[in-house]
Amino acid sequence: MSLHDVMLEELRSLYSAENQIVKALPKLIKHAKNEELKNGFSQHLAQTEEHVERLKKIFEQLDQKPTGKDCKGMEGILEEGKEVLNEDESGDSYDVGLIGAASRVEHYEIAGYTWAITVATALGMKEAVTLLEETLGEEEETRDELEDLLNQFLERSVKRTAA
Ligand SMILES: [Fe+2]
Repeated sequence: MSLHDVMLEELRSLYSAENQIVKALPKLIKHAKNEELKNGFSQHLAQTEEHVERLKKIFEQLDQKPTGKDCKGMEGILEEGKEVLNEDESGDSYDVGLIGAASRVEHYEIAGYTWAITVATALGMKEAVTLLEETLGEEEETRDELEDLLNQFLERSVKRTAA
């Protein structure tokens, strides 16, 4: 397998992961209790649909198909995330669990895109690198927003305990 083929397989895996996330996010939107978190998930769903489109574009440029690979890692992460959805916690503590599940998704994607950008750069795939970097930027923003929300929740809960 050439480096180029390894790259294609990783991009197929990312494509599978993004499609799984498109399917999973509506559940998170439905279950999140906090409005800001709900809106954040909705916004990320729109972005994720765009991530799928960008990967499709890269495959078109390379005259290849994006399908044919299942991202087992994302399957596992989302499977574990489902357990959080079934918890009967209320309010912030429930959302804190959702944020944990969503953060794992983001970090997994960030690892995949960071690797892909490094290898695509080495292969001189300039257009692909631009598209991958746009997506990586959005994944990183989402990770940061999740972290901010988590801190807000935790500050509130510390205040409540102190009162
Ligand atoms: Fe994504």
